[in-house]
Amino acid sequence: MIFAAQSSEIPSFGKKAVTLNGKALLLVNVKGEFFACDNECPHQGSPMTAGIVMDGTISCPRHGYRFDLRTGSCADVPAFTLKLYPTELRGEELFVEIS
Ligand code: FES
Repeated sequence: MIFAAQSSEIPSFGKKAVTLNGKALLLVNVKGEFFACDNECPHQGSPMTAGIVMDGTISCPRHGYRFDLRTGSCADVPAFTLKLYPTELRGEELFVEIS
């Protein structure tokens, strides 16, 4: 696992864009639960940085497709899946498994 950020850098329902091992990722905090996903929408590649986080999903700022932060599945067009990465909080430090 790779150190990604201090948890305090990502407020609840907030996001932080990072680059780990050359991959552009987005870290998301949902009420103290941390997620990591590709910072690129699987539809047409829009950055997810400005996506809206709500009810365990993140919606793409471009066309509004909603992706489940636990599974990556798309509620609007099931053919698309947002790639997710396992996270682990060690104290105040957030780590991400890049595969
Ligand atoms: S680019 Fe994300 S929904 Fe179209």
